[in-house]
Amino acid sequence: MQLIHTIDALREALNKFRHPAVVPTMGNLHAGHLALVRQAKPLGDVTISTIFVNRLQFAPHEDFDTYPRTLEADCQQLEAAGCDIVFAPKESVLYPQAQTFKVHPPTELADILEGHFRPGFFIGVCTVVMKLLAVTQARTALFGKKDYQQLMVIRNMVKQFALPIEVIGGETQRNAAGLALSSRNGYLTPAQREEALLLSGVLRRMVDAVRSGATDFVQLEQEGMQALRAAGWVPDYVAVRRQSDLQVPQAQDAKVVLAAARLGSTRLIDNMEI
Ligand code: PAF
Repeated sequence: MQLIHTIDALREALNKFRHPAVVPTMGNLHAGHLALVRQAKPLGDVTISTIFVNRLQFAPHEDFDTYPRTLEADCQQLEAAGCDIVFAPKESVLYPQAQTFKVHPPTELADILEGHFRPGFFIGVCTVVMKLLAVTQARTALFGKKDYQQLMVIRNMVKQFALPIEVIGGETQRNAAGLALSSRNGYLTPAQREEALLLSGVLRRMVDAVRSGATDFVQLEQEGMQALRAAGWVPDYVAVRRQSDLQVPQAQDAKVVLAAARLGSTRLIDNMEI
């Protein structure tokens, strides 16, 4: 496996390949990322993982500075998962000057849910993903479904810009108790890791209720928020949405339940398709 830090060296390394399959990450990898790398392996002639903590998608009060940077351990895991190239640029390589050209995703998709509570987040994500797809010459790109809205925004960006790239979603990986794997789980104390199961528990109950015929989605959302608040969480949203565009669903639509909430100082998100 090659570890590459510059765009020139990456272009050189990619000369002999026609179909890079790329897994963009911010590092501090867990089994969810590695599953994406294994999923990517048969889809291209070279498997690339990018590791870059993207300042543009963090608000000033968020955890950009403390976000764990664990390049050496990440590389060991990526090599074991079959990754061929790790592209880990410094900030001065990816943003040699202020990134004033940015991708602004449409408000109806990017200013709801995550975007409502993290204004500008998807501008940062789209801008860096656009750049990472360009420098890696991706033909296939994989993103985890745990970031459901992110996957949808990127899928639509790639489609609307007619990029010759297939975007593939990887299933959310969970620990044995059901907690969705996330780099931010590392912020949780052992006791909080137990408490964190409430988030998937709330979503699971909503999925079961919808499957059993519940149609008052607003009430389900309120009950979900209430269950989290009662346990001391600070929920941002608990929502039943349409899978295709994350708008409020009609009875016949395929649905997804999504939630974001803070447990102590750690913000966790999760979702389940119905
Ligand atoms: O999901 C992430 O890790 C990031 O948002 C991404 C897609 C790598 C862009 O920085």
